[in-house]
Amino acid sequence: MCGIVGYIGGQEACPILMEGLSRLSYRGYDSAGVAVLDAHGKLNIRKAKGRLENLEALLASDMPGGSVGIGHTRWATHGEPSDLNAHPHTDVKGGIAVVHNGIIENHDTLRRHLQSQGCVFVSQTDTEVVAHLLSTLYQGSMKDTLLKAMGMLEGSYALGVVCDQEPGALFCARHESPLVVGAKAGASFIASDIPALLSHTRDVIFLQDKEMAVLTREGIQVYDPFGSQRQHTFYHVEWDLSSAEKGGYAHYMLKEIHEQPTALHSTFAPRNNGNQHDYRWLPLTQEEAGKLKKISIVACGTAYHAGMFGKYVIEKLARVPVMADIASEYRYRDPIIGADELFIAVSQSGETADTLAALREAKRRGAKVIAICNVVGSTISREVGEANTLYTYAGPEIAVASTKAYMTQVEMMLLIALALADLRGEITPDEAERLRTEIAALPAKAEQALAIEEKMQRFASTVSQKKHVFFVGRGLDYALSLEAALKLKEVSYVFSEAYAAGELKHGPIALLQEGRLVVATITQPALLDKTLSNLREIKARGARVLAICREDLEAKVVGEADDLILIPAADDLLAPLLAVIPLQLFAYCMAVARGCDVDKPRNLAKSVTVE
Ligand code: G6P
Repeated sequence: MCGIVGYIGGQEACPILMEGLSRLSYRGYDSAGVAVLDAHGKLNIRKAKGRLENLEALLASDMPGGSVGIGHTRWATHGEPSDLNAHPHTDVKGGIAVVHNGIIENHDTLRRHLQSQGCVFVSQTDTEVVAHLLSTLYQGSMKDTLLKAMGMLEGSYALGVVCDQEPGALFCARHESPLVVGAKAGASFIASDIPALLSHTRDVIFLQDKEMAVLTREGIQVYDPFGSQRQHTFYHVEWDLSSAEKGGYAHYMLKEIHEQPTALHSTFAPRNNGNQHDYRWLPLTQEEAGKLKKISIVACGTAYHAGMFGKYVIEKLARVPVMADIASEYRYRDPIIGADELFIAVSQSGETADTLAALREAKRRGAKVIAICNVVGSTISREVGEANTLYTYAGPEIAVASTKAYMTQVEMMLLIALALADLRGEITPDEAERLRTEIAALPAKAEQALAIEEKMQRFASTVSQKKHVFFVGRGLDYALSLEAALKLKEVSYVFSEAYAAGELKHGPIALLQEGRLVVATITQPALLDKTLSNLREIKARGARVLAICREDLEAKVVGEADDLILIPAADDLLAPLLAVIPLQLFAYCMAVARGCDVDKPRNLAKSVTVE
């Protein structure tokens, strides 16, 4: 995700900001910038697309002087990576500069309102709205202005603000996006992440939601949303730099697994504007949706598994035939593309060569082409056009094995299924509303599902020396099993295969014997009895069964499995998203127990840009 730094003290701000930004570069970014208030209270901004070196080169010849400033590394969400879209953003007069992490969900409404008041926008970002808003509200106190603006902003934000009218202060605020504040004698700092602060101070305050702070050279004041000063306690950070980069987690993969509740929210929020029949986010008209004859979902690896999930949910809800295909197969298969066919490319990176080639082929043959991507401005999103790209907003994924990107791709499949069902008249408004409410509740349930981590660790330590693991499930649970088997083999190098539970007896059962491990995912009540009879076949061959099961199905499963991991109860279409979490944790814990290089598995690359 984007990175924020800020400094006020007795030294030149620019080198300190740049050092902080370089400490945050591990998070991934596509542009960077700084804003510094000089000794006369004039605000100077420098920004550059691409690597930090580009910004450094700019500063080498023209470094703004001054001892108050903010800096930012941007990972694009609204608007492509460019100099203009890079932060800091300013108001029309250029006296207020803002850096921002998160997503301002009501940016459209605010932008229209501010434009009607004469504000001229120069970027495509949601952040620029904040700069103009602060400027129009300002009446002499940035503290009061920021508090007022916070009451008007919807969504998530960590904000750093400097203002030429108050050159002796640095302002910050947060809501659902992390921000830490640090201090040492004569200087104060802000940062989105601890690594940016460690070379200056280990004494930090973690701002809470809806808190703001005013930093001066003398110290820090923290305020609640009503403007009353709050007592704050400094926390002494013991982490070394490497664990600080991982937010205190042992690996990026684990950090990203834990980021899934937030990622689920970030994917859903822009597609949930309160009006249940508003599907403007979907790049399809009602007429196109109604006429759809077929959908092809094409991708590689984990993204293909999200496509498999999409096939089940879209067919179920929207009643359109869906084919999920592997991109490297699709592109060479002389695919048949009919009239009224929708092609969906799914790719975390938006750079995968086979997926790109498959979508070009589909386009050439006349399909309507859209994409689900995580990286804004990636090749695939440019190829289909921004308007035809559904961004997952999972934030940068650093571990090679995909977790949070997969989770949000799967959620996007659900959202597409629901939208198409509604547009095609295949679902009642009540049912659509019920599902939407359930989707909104997913982040909290995902948080609960994460609580099984320790139990999974214990389980993995008892089976970590297994040489083979089978994953079985039916329906959506089969789609999950495919991903679970891929995850396990990617990070732990354990030979793992997934089978539709009903398919076991057609061959793979020959491999079952005393001591084999089988992981069964059970989230579908309608298929429960069938799956249980498969478990009996498995156990009769002496295999050990771990069941990942919905807690409301526990009573039926308890005697049928050797080990049980429960996930919160949820709707049949949503429970699989919660089952993903223990399956990911299983792969992670196995890899750790086996001493594997979790974040950088052998032979794998995060993004495969060659055939
Ligand atoms: C590589 C990665 C996989 C990923 C696949 C597709 O093989 O190792 O984790 O699922 O590419 O990547 P994409 O960026 O297109 O989703």
